[in-house]
Amino acid sequence: MTNRSLLTLTVAAVFALSACKVSQPGSVESGVMKEVKKNITVGGKDDQNPAPDNQAAINEGKEHFGHHCQICHGLDGQNTGVPFATQMSPPVADLKSGDIQAYTDGQLHWILVNGINPSGMPAWKGILEDDEMWKIVRYIRHLPDKGSLGTPEVFKEEAEEHKQMESGGTPQHHHRPAGSKPESKH
Ligand code: HEC
Repeated sequence: MTNRSLLTLTVAAVFALSACKVSQPGSVESGVMKEVKKNITVGGKDDQNPAPDNQAAINEGKEHFGHHCQICHGLDGQNTGVPFATQMSPPVADLKSGDIQAYTDGQLHWILVNGINPSGMPAWKGILEDDEMWKIVRYIRHLPDKGSLGTPEVFKEEAEEHKQMESGGTPQHHHRPAGSKPESKH
C-alpha cells in the first residue's frame, strides 16, 4: 500500500469517527439535555448587556451579523436561503425560536464567545470585539420577519451558476497567455 492511500484511509476513518461523535448530541438532544444546556453548560446567565438598547446598537449588530453569521444563519437569523442549515447535525438553530429567545442576553453573549461544542457553531472570541458581540445580541432580540431580508448573496450566486450550467452555458477555456513560451522539455 502506498503512503498516499494509507493517508487517505486514515483521514477517512478519523472523519467517520468524528462525524458520528458530532451527530450524537443532536440526535439524542432531549428536553432534559436542553434544560442542562440552559442552566449549567451555558454560562453568563447574569451578565448584563452593556450595549445601549437602541436602534443604533441594533443596526450595528445587524451589520456584524451580516458579515459573520449570515453564511449559516441567514440574514434574518432564521436560516432563510441557507441550503445546508437543516443538514448540519445539530441543525443550525433558528435564532427567533422560543428556545433561543429564552436565553438571557448574558447567555447569548457567552455562546458567541465560546461557541457550542461539539457542533458547527464557532467561537468568536478573538474574531469579534466584546462590544460587537453584545450588539449582535441586541440584534438577535430584534430579528425581522422570516424571509424579509431574502437570501444571502453568496447562495444567490450559487443558485445562478447552477441555472447557467443547466442551460448549457459555454465552459471556460484556459488559454496560455499571449507571448508565453512553450513548455520546456526535460
Ligand atoms: C459555520 C456555521 C455557523 C456560523 C458562521 C454561525 N453559527 Fe450560530 N449556530 C450554528 C449551528 C450549527 C448552531 C446549532 C448548535 C446547537 O444547536 O448546538 C448554531 C447555534 C447558534 C445559537 C444558539 C445556540 C444554542 O444553544 O442553541 C446562537 C445564539 C448562534 N448560533 C448565534 C450565532 C451568531 C451571532 C453568529 C455570528 C457571530 C453565528 N451563530 C455564526 C452554526 C453557525
